[in-house]
Amino acid sequence: MQVSGLIGNTGTFAGVDLAALVAREGTPLYAYSAPAIRERVRALRAALAGMDAGIRYAVKANGNGAILRLLAEEGAGADIVSGGEMQRALRAGIAAADIVFSGVGKTDAEIDAALAAGIGRFNVESRAELDAIQRIAAARGCTAVASVRINPDVDALTHAKISTGKAENKFGVSIAEARGWFDAKAQWPNVRLDGLHMHIGSQLLSLDPVREALARMAAFWKELAAAGHDIASIDVGGGLGVRYRDGEQAPDAFDYAALIREALHGFAGRILVEPGRWLVAEAGVLLSRVLLVKRGEARRFLVLDAAMNDLLRPSLYEAWHDIVRIGDNTGCERLAYDVVGPVCETGDTFAQNRELPRCEAGDLVAILGAGAYGASMASTYNSRPLAAEVLLDDGRYALIRRRQDFDAMIADERPADEWRSA
Ligand code: LLP
Repeated sequence: MQVSGLIGNTGTFAGVDLAALVAREGTPLYAYSAPAIRERVRALRAALAGMDAGIRYAVKANGNGAILRLLAEEGAGADIVSGGEMQRALRAGIAAADIVFSGVGKTDAEIDAALAAGIGRFNVESRAELDAIQRIAAARGCTAVASVRINPDVDALTHAKISTGKAENKFGVSIAEARGWFDAKAQWPNVRLDGLHMHIGSQLLSLDPVREALARMAAFWKELAAAGHDIASIDVGGGLGVRYRDGEQAPDAFDYAALIREALHGFAGRILVEPGRWLVAEAGVLLSRVLLVKRGEARRFLVLDAAMNDLLRPSLYEAWHDIVRIGDNTGCERLAYDVVGPVCETGDTFAQNRELPRCEAGDLVAILGAGAYGASMASTYNSRPLAAEVLLDDGRYALIRRRQDFDAMIADERPADEWRSA
């Protein structure tokens, strides 16, 4: 599935006319294709068929309730990293039992809330966390179910900021440390430690590091099983990359599933996968209006009404997102633009020296591949209200997040007119 192909020269996405859509809902506007998301979940399920495998969607990629509901309807559970994500997942109708809780810094309150809700499993990342889960589960008189997040020390060959499986990264624990936990598991009587977890990084375009990491985790599972430990769950994490630009080759879901099948051959427990990006990235676009074209000394700037506060990835990771001008571009002259937003930072740049059909003020552009880590990483920097979001399906759309207004943006601020002693 290539979103650019879906938009093409027709200016429609999931059967919805984008110019008409923004005439109603304004810009910047996130638009997601429901069929594209369904297609991805179904493709992944098909690839995993034959294994006892469950999808735990990484809510951080896009936590909008309507997106979560759509994924829940397709049978996905959730991978969460905060109490807020847990509430989102539960409200979207995802069963607590189908939620796994990852993350290096869970608070006592979050652990307690997760136990109260009855979430399926904690992915534990440190001994201090294991102790905390024990203490809180004991106080509640319940048993927590937990996996150890292994740090397999492999280079995921992705951007350093989203690489998580090297020994120097903050995530997970070494196999040696995990071995110690299993040997001493009687120390945590209120924790059922019966699973392994890994997540080596995001936007993985090569499956080689996954193969390597899986091999290390599988060897450890076999060692534990031989030592008499019951391993009921192996969670292989997320990370499956998508194609953001021509020339990039995203791994195939079937190849990915084949790796898992091969590495975990003989495993009788439950296999979990935690994709985020792969399910939603290409199903979303950020629609933006050209405010003006500015001729600098050295560059031609296309100034959009979307900015780094709406979509941070290009500023933060120098990530590439395809940009298309909506409308009939056949025969248009092409020019190189620096595509920028109105925020007062040079880093507020979506693309440099990008060839586009000649644009003018008022034109509509779509920034592609914006369904994952777009709206979920947005902020109100420069006092720019959060963008609206719509879900498109079968020629119609639903407003799934209304545009934030000024009052909502400042609603939690207070004048310093009441002074208290701490
Ligand atoms: N599981 C765990 C424990 C994770 O930390 C993550 C992502 C995922 C699953 C899902 O990974 P995915 O399938 O989406 O690659 N903001 C960055 C991506 C950060 C990913 C963080 N962890 C970006 O915009 O590229």
